[in-house]
Amino acid sequence: MSTRANIPQHVAIIMDGNGRWAKLRGKERSEGHVAGMEALRRTIQNAAEAGVKYLTVYAFSTENWGRPKQEVEALMALICRGVELEADNLREAGVRVKVMGRRANFSAEVAEAIRSIEEQTAAGEQLTLILALDYSSRSEICDAVRNIARRVQQGELAVEQIDEHLISESLLSAGVPDPDLVIRTSGEYRLSNFLLWQASYAELYFTDVLWPDFDGEELHRALEAYAARERRYGLVK
Ligand code: IPE
Ligand code: IPE
Ligand code: MG
Repeated sequence: MSTRANIPQHVAIIMDGNGRWAKLRGKERSEGHVAGMEALRRTIQNAAEAGVKYLTVYAFSTENWGRPKQEVEALMALICRGVELEADNLREAGVRVKVMGRRANFSAEVAEAIRSIEEQTAAGEQLTLILALDYSSRSEICDAVRNIARRVQQGELAVEQIDEHLISESLLSAGVPDPDLVIRTSGEYRLSNFLLWQASYAELYFTDVLWPDFDGEELHRALEAYAARERRYGLVK
């Protein structure tokens, strides 16, 4: 990948369109998710090669639990298989995997697969891959507020100490810089409860490409668009 100037440190992707990709081909939705997993594999490699340091991918939202049982089960099985199959490759490529989301609802098998990949890849320094699984930005904010309130109630924290930094550090993304670029595929123009606090000043990039078709070329296009943006943060240039 030739893009070198002005590479975003943190790219976040709403990987959308697997179902439509499958439907267009007369396939089951779950086959779209399998193809989506391949697109994720390529994208991790391409992002690392481009010099991206943090890649957050929205893989399963808390709202997605409401999909038909068969689809949820297929997705969970895919997550388990994916992390097991990819653990060695990711470790060798220097990718550190972290999961961001509520962990309470996962089956023992999924919980163990997640624990294992986080442990196996903990030393990775090339790229941090954050898998948003059972993730809801609003519930993440609610949990943070509840924790802060509890600390105030216990006298551990003064109300005056509540600031943007404390809130950022109370979220599941604590320690991770805010995303510079948020990409959404499949022609939908919404955030769907993804990184609402963290993406305050992110550049947004939308493409009609369905997630399973996202490749190095598409990532390159998004990075080029980002490089051409002027981030003003409310100031006058
Ligand atoms: C994104 O693709 C993957 C997940 C939400 C798990 P979709 O499954 O939402 O695909 P579409 O939007 O129905 O095409
Ligand atoms: C957002 O996509 C969640 C993921 C990509 C995992 P959805 O397909 O679930 O979102 P909506 O329903 O179009 O808003
Ligand atoms: Mg969708």
